[in-house]
Amino acid sequence: MCGIVGCILKDDEAAPVLLECVKKLEYRGYDSVGIATPSSKINIRKDKGKISEAEKNVKLSDLPGNMGIAHVRWATHGIPTQKNAHPHTDCNGKIAVVHNGIIENYKELKNNLESEGHIFKSDTDTEVIPHLIEKFMDQGFDLEIAVRKTLDMINGSYALAVISTDEPGKIVGVRKESPMIVGKGDGDYFLASDVPAILKHTNNIIYLEDGEMVILDADGVTVKNVLGEIIEKEIHIIEWTPDMAEKGGFDHFMIKEIHEQPDAVRDTLMESSEIEKIVNNLGGIERICFVACGTSYHASLIGKYLFESLMGLPTDVILASEFQYSSKAMDEKTLVIFISQSGETADTLKALRTAKKRSETLVIVNVVGSTATREAKHVVFTRAGPEIGVAATKTYVSQLTCVYLLAAHMSKRMDLVEELHKIPKFMVEVLDNEDYIHRIAKKYKDAQDFFFIGRGFSYPTALEGALKLKEITYIHGEGYAAGELKHGPLALIDDGVPVVAVVAPGNIHDKTLSNVEEVRARGAHVISVGSSDDEILKSESKDMMVMDSEIDELISPIPYIVPLQLLAYYISVEKGIDPDKPKNLAKCVTVE
Ligand code: M6R
Repeated sequence: MCGIVGCILKDDEAAPVLLECVKKLEYRGYDSVGIATPSSKINIRKDKGKISEAEKNVKLSDLPGNMGIAHVRWATHGIPTQKNAHPHTDCNGKIAVVHNGIIENYKELKNNLESEGHIFKSDTDTEVIPHLIEKFMDQGFDLEIAVRKTLDMINGSYALAVISTDEPGKIVGVRKESPMIVGKGDGDYFLASDVPAILKHTNNIIYLEDGEMVILDADGVTVKNVLGEIIEKEIHIIEWTPDMAEKGGFDHFMIKEIHEQPDAVRDTLMESSEIEKIVNNLGGIERICFVACGTSYHASLIGKYLFESLMGLPTDVILASEFQYSSKAMDEKTLVIFISQSGETADTLKALRTAKKRSETLVIVNVVGSTATREAKHVVFTRAGPEIGVAATKTYVSQLTCVYLLAAHMSKRMDLVEELHKIPKFMVEVLDNEDYIHRIAKKYKDAQDFFFIGRGFSYPTALEGALKLKEITYIHGEGYAAGELKHGPLALIDDGVPVVAVVAPGNIHDKTLSNVEEVRARGAHVISVGSSDDEILKSESKDMMVMDSEIDELISPIPYIVPLQLLAYYISVEKGIDPDKPKNLAKCVTVE
């Protein structure tokens, strides 16, 4: 979940460019940052904290040379400190390494290396890598072979970039179970954890596969397979533009991305015919199983309600991290649908690799070229564009749009596709009401606990609202099926506790209202999300975030999440938290 970059530039100093690129990867981790360039020695600038904080203490871009490597860290082994920040070096400061992933056998390797006299400076697992490379280079191997020999010794997952003063002008990159892409500009060459980091410099992208190695030097880019043979790789032209990954006048990426949701839904709806083709190729599916994590899991839960209500197809939803323990019923008649914004989530990829041995697999994913797109049988793209804020917003509504399109085509409910086209308008109406939601946020920003309740299609919306709140405001927020409250959680409802009730019109409306009554009777402050013509709900609520009365219950999960995203965003801002970089979290979780 760290971010790595490397570059060799024709005419420019590398460090300022590396700093600018690594800032684009900060969503992957912000515990520390570091840059290294080679000259007669390895020059390093690094410090703990977010890049903006580190820059106050260390002149990160004040390094010589036209090539180098850089890193932002999400700590796994060793607390966030300067000494644990990457790049890490060997004993003599001649080799530098940046790493995303985990080296599982680092303890044993470290003990052996220490007994051979290597001196370690950090508590990280990564540091064994430069020491192993040093050992092999001391035995006379060149950098590339020394890296290969090192890979033979380490277990775990990695994307690595390595430089050495003995072979200045060269960067060696490798990947195994952690993403790495290569950018081929006009005389400028890059490697990075993902595309937005280097998009300003080139949109000619090569996707590395597990086990592949890339060598960057002034002559260009060479990719080799596990045997060390040169291989031809396809260059993909990426359509995303650099300003899609900028804030564009908004204070944070998250609020920009919330505002991009009407377009994200519109663009994703254009995938309808692709989805129809996939559906036409699916034969004899008798059961659906969704697998995902976090927000993508909530999109999957909506899928369950949808597939079961439209087609009566038995549908399971399994958290990717639990898949190994609960997927025994899958067979060749099961379509396993993976949902992942990044396409790189380790838990999801592991489940995908297990599922594809016995079932048909389909992935709904936002990042073109990501690992999941290469491993699943069928791929459906969400057209949300790059999402930088750690909190998933526009990718969630795009995922839902794909789930609805899949269900519509499988059930031949073309009227549902028509309904989906109305959603952008409903979202714009909520966004126009943003100031009112900001005022509600100010009122409740000091609450200790929040509860979110909903039934049926509104239950996953309640869960997602609670997740958004806790991840960017650090307020304890729990989502419950409204009917479950009386089976335990009601004991926690006291005077003034905010309860957000998601009450879409339709079948579940009246029953949810009874649950609203129950919490009100115990003193809760009800903040509701409901139809503008729902006078009863209005009278039961302290505050109400109103939705267009034309929204049908079936499609309500897509527009109804928008006010909850805005509520979490504005509470975060009011509390002085940076919603784009919530503590302890990273956008792309590439460790299990
Ligand atoms: O990239 P993925 O969709 O596979 O990520 C799964 C979760 O880590 C992710 O949805 C996470 O819960 C959200 N960023 C929270 O907003």
